[in-house]
Amino acid sequence: MTVAPSRASRSEGLDAASALAGPAYDRADWSSAFRNVGVELSAVPLVATRGTIPSELAGTLYRNGPGRLERGGHWVHHPFDGDGMITALRFDAGTLQLSNRFVRTQGWLAEEEADKVLYRGVFGTQKPGGPIANAFDLRLKNIANTQVVRLGDQLLALWEASSPHALDPETLETKGITLLDGVLKPDEAFSAHPRLDPGHHGEPRLVTFGVKAGPTSTVRLMEFATTGEQAGQLIADDSYSFKGFAFLHDFAITPNWAVFLQNAVAFNPLGFVLGQKGAAQCLSSKPGQQGQFWLVPRASGAFAGQKPRLIKAPEGFVFHHLNAFEDASGEVVVDSIFYADFPSIGPDVDFRTIDFDSLPEGQLKRCRIDLKTAGVSLELLEPRCCEFAMVNPAHQGLAARYGWMAVAEREHGNDPLQAIEKFDLLSGERRVWSASPRGFVNEPVMVPSPQASGAAGQPEDRGWVLVLVWNGARCASDLVILDAATMAEQAVVELPLALPYGLHGSWSPA
Ligand code: CO
Repeated sequence: MTVAPSRASRSEGLDAASALAGPAYDRADWSSAFRNVGVELSAVPLVATRGTIPSELAGTLYRNGPGRLERGGHWVHHPFDGDGMITALRFDAGTLQLSNRFVRTQGWLAEEEADKVLYRGVFGTQKPGGPIANAFDLRLKNIANTQVVRLGDQLLALWEASSPHALDPETLETKGITLLDGVLKPDEAFSAHPRLDPGHHGEPRLVTFGVKAGPTSTVRLMEFATTGEQAGQLIADDSYSFKGFAFLHDFAITPNWAVFLQNAVAFNPLGFVLGQKGAAQCLSSKPGQQGQFWLVPRASGAFAGQKPRLIKAPEGFVFHHLNAFEDASGEVVVDSIFYADFPSIGPDVDFRTIDFDSLPEGQLKRCRIDLKTAGVSLELLEPRCCEFAMVNPAHQGLAARYGWMAVAEREHGNDPLQAIEKFDLLSGERRVWSASPRGFVNEPVMVPSPQASGAAGQPEDRGWVLVLVWNGARCASDLVILDAATMAEQAVVELPLALPYGLHGSWSPA
């Protein structure tokens, strides 16, 4: 179904045969991104190094990710344990301003003051001193490093195991932990994967969840108004309990359902309690066992008030979904990035030296869930190693035609993410922009053209893709702006910042 990818710009020198033969990147380039962010900038004006910043781009790209990976020579065990650092790129009439700030979490402030590591990390970071120094210290350091989104007049830095931090959307100054006007209890989990409903039931909404995991796990599904007088207010709130330990990082929405995939994982906290492992390293997959889809009815949907549907899922492990929708026959279709197994970095492995070949790659797969028979069919959409996929946000929860995602340069096997792919979910056609051999990409954010959003009949792929690229030649980060339809490079802006690989980000229109 797929056609040969058409590559643009930087990859022109690479012929197809060499791209297939073996990895074309240098590990030193890849690992040079693992460093501390050393400066905080305020509204620094930037100009394009190549090309032109589109004048119609009006708004702010917010990005979150680990900005501190080492302290006093003591490294995090996994970059996901690094302290949250927010980058804001503000576009206005062809101009661009850059700001960045660490989130002043309680843990970051305490470690800055002490100038040493005082907390363990969920992904295996230990305090200096070995298991004896770490055993029975079960405190969680809320590192606010996973996603950053606007909600009402607040900017929220999210970390799924605890409450959000509120930031000033302009200055990025940390205001502190927010319980969202009493919506959350202190330390209540609040997902880092909110989904924006573009208006399935009238006005747009931010739909999100929190998980309390245990032998029985509880999922709290929340919907917030995002526009008008009510912006930021909770308008729907329901909790559901399910048997088993829930590891839920992401979910998907349709007009009628919130779709969760409960991976088949077991949690044995002994190593965490004894100071040998991080909490996430105590997760293990249950080989041969299947996960479950949990279809939870949305409050304004056709199934409101009904019980959730529990449906056996295909084997595999999922962190992220691309999108979900209900098709004309009533099937719920969920596109997700599947791994053969839970990819974990063992206690004795240095993440900077990981062997990519030893880890499973993510692949985009489509599950069609028949609600009448509870049957699920599985289709491989894209074998190429991928992560961080999104549709045009105006088509979230609907039958979107295109997805944009970060992919490896090679078409097979597991490699670092070096290219951005536009994937046609209808025809299978691919268009790829590549930063190979010396560039490494972060999550792409698709920004619809302001003329296109909401206007019926406008092409779904009209707009731009914004992506931060680690430039191994410069040992610094570049902002790359692509045309979302053609994947042609519109502009490259060399940032006066060196940002380690980040996690998630969002676009906030002006
Ligand atoms: Co995520």
